Amino acid sequence: MNGHTDILAIETSCDETAAAVVRDGTHVLSNSIYTQIGMHTVYGGVVPELASRKHIEKIDYVIKAALEEAGMSLEETDAVAVTYGPGLVGALLVGAAEAKAIAWAAGKPLIGVNHIEGHICANYIEHPELKPPYLGLVVSGGHTHLIIVRDYAEFEILGRTVDDAAGEAFDKVARAIGLGYPGGPKIDAAAKKGNASAITFPKAKVNHSEYDFSFSGLKSAVLNYLNHAAMMHEEICREDVAASFQRAVVEVLTEHTIRAAKEYGMSRIALAGGVSANSALRDAMRGAAVKEGFELFVPSPLYCTDNAAMIGAAAYHEYLRGTRSGWDLNAVPGLRLGER
Ligand code: KG4
Ligand code: ZN
Repeated sequence: MNGHTDILAIETSCDETAAAVVRDGTHVLSNSIYTQIGMHTVYGGVVPELASRKHIEKIDYVIKAALEEAGMSLEETDAVAVTYGPGLVGALLVGAAEAKAIAWAAGKPLIGVNHIEGHICANYIEHPELKPPYLGLVVSGGHTHLIIVRDYAEFEILGRTVDDAAGEAFDKVARAIGLGYPGGPKIDAAAKKGNASAITFPKAKVNHSEYDFSFSGLKSAVLNYLNHAAMMHEEICREDVAASFQRAVVEVLTEHTIRAAKEYGMSRIALAGGVSANSALRDAMRGAAVKEGFELFVPSPLYCTDNAAMIGAAAYHEYLRGTRSGWDLNAVPGLRLGER
């Protein structure tokens, strides 16, 4: 008890083993991440069983590092928070079991956190002045959501992907053009050397659904382009493919977001999730926001991709609302935003 609310947060939903101590939802006292990316790169994507096995191997070290860096003991924290969904079930179970064990042993409240809510709340770490209501775009490896954040833990979903998530499209296209995993950062880098107008890929449209997204058609268009070039024994320019594909994704995301902000009268827009680390998306959104007079919030790249500090930020608002999880907290791999 020091007049602050210090939350130890744990995140193991995919391929990062992470723990952080976050004070009052905005001050990151520590942010420890063990990334498994190197291990999964060999297989071209995340291998769920290997992810779980690595989480169980690293979780104690990562938590110890987070507490040490924060200069705190577990007893000095006010609560233990953990991502319990959505994500890979075996990976989530490691974090959930760990959080329950240490919270129970230390007599601390336990707070189960929705991973997507965590991504959104990453914005509060560097922008405590951002307050609901605002428009949010969450773009990650598993999710693409356009939402109105009505309150800190209240969301209205305007649109979502009907097939691939934006990050998934980046990863699949990167694999197809031989850039490897994880595709997003590699396409981002390759695109900087390419011509975004070289190839016209179709912009994804979803019939009758103004704010939904679809990326599988765009991915197929890229694959068709590559197959056609191979059949004709034509060399492709990977940088041009990367830049042209990225442009199609960025345009759709930007157009939907700006249109929704106008229609719903939102003056602030916040981006979140791994794909919001994309430099072209950040630039396009900044440009559009300035032109249309919206205030734009984007986390630093470190807080865009998976980390535990964002879980601590989300947990703080849940803590204030009185959210407490029971000792029967379980992994919910398909957990939806706004669901408990
Ligand atoms: O949020 P995140 O770390 O994990 C999920 O919750 O899914 O997002 C990972 C996704 C991957 O698909 C990765 O390729 C993508 O975010 N990503 C990027 C960039 N950095 C990560 N996509 C485009 N450009 C980037 N710079
Ligand atoms: Zn994530």
